[in-house]
Amino acid sequence: MQFHPARKAILKLLADGAFHSGSHIAQTLHCSRASVWSIIHELQQLGLEINAVSGKGYRLARPLELLDAEVIAAQLSAEARPLLTLLDIHDQLDSTNTYLMAQATAGLASGAVCLAEHQTAGRGRVGRVWQSPFAGNICLSVLWRFEEQASVAGLSLSIGVALAHALRRAGIAGLGLKWPNDVLWQARKLGGILLEVSGEAHGRCAVVVGIGLNLHIPPAAAEAIDQDWVDLGQITGGAPPSRNRLVALLLDEVLRLLADYPERGLAGYIEEWRQWHCHAGRAVALHLGGKTIVGTLLGVSDAGLLVLDCGEAGVKEFASGELRLRVL
Ligand code: BTN
Repeated sequence: MQFHPARKAILKLLADGAFHSGSHIAQTLHCSRASVWSIIHELQQLGLEINAVSGKGYRLARPLELLDAEVIAAQLSAEARPLLTLLDIHDQLDSTNTYLMAQATAGLASGAVCLAEHQTAGRGRVGRVWQSPFAGNICLSVLWRFEEQASVAGLSLSIGVALAHALRRAGIAGLGLKWPNDVLWQARKLGGILLEVSGEAHGRCAVVVGIGLNLHIPPAAAEAIDQDWVDLGQITGGAPPSRNRLVALLLDEVLRLLADYPERGLAGYIEEWRQWHCHAGRAVALHLGGKTIVGTLLGVSDAGLLVLDCGEAGVKEFASGELRLRVL
């Protein structure tokens, strides 16, 4: 969904974080100052902090970098560019995963990408809500079709490696991965992956790879997060990498991985995944519905299963499914 052009125009004017007077905005948009005020109010309702100072006008408390399809596409490598078939950027959606999966059912091709500045019903793993404040995160989904459902085994772990690569290319150090697919920075959650698969005829399937990455989580959204989290603003001392650049790096890594995946499979990524793994040797609890299993995390098997030493119950392997892993 795209915003009304006047709302988008005001957003673009204010994005620089400088003051813009109400009369200047009204003149630029050919509308009344009352309309400007009402749009500013709508933007505040979206969670954006806008200061109104008499004699100066309006300004965003924090400058914004809005997503731009041309800027993103121009930064893709020659290898990734032909893999991108659609770059669909929305001002607001319920969830980029939900949207793209619906489009997949309607026949959209592999390599279609959907981004949203804001998700009203962002979804995380195991039924969690994913906080998606306006222009504060990267909310990205990629559609890919596979000839055989078996080809997608371990894909979500492998995508974790692609995310770590992209962030490292953006200059972020201190990263790690937590099974099955959290991206951590110094043990705090920076991003996550929600992979959704829809089966089709003759073993074919459509996969939507959803990626959420925290850039700037404002206090109101932070209150609603029940995990130890971090954003790139905190990591970089207030100077996070460009959002468009980050999207390009993520797409560059993820599209190339998806195209190669039927051949390379998890076998091509598992060793590296283990190198990024944060919690080997730690005492952990696995939650499945109302049940909790406690043990020592030995690692991840070649098939991508979590291997846990459960003491007297022996060594056991677990598939991700609806499991939540908590480090004790
Ligand atoms: C998790 O760690 O729980 C997974 C989070 C995945 C969030 C992303 S944001 C883009 C895409 N759309 C969604 O609704 N969810 C994923």
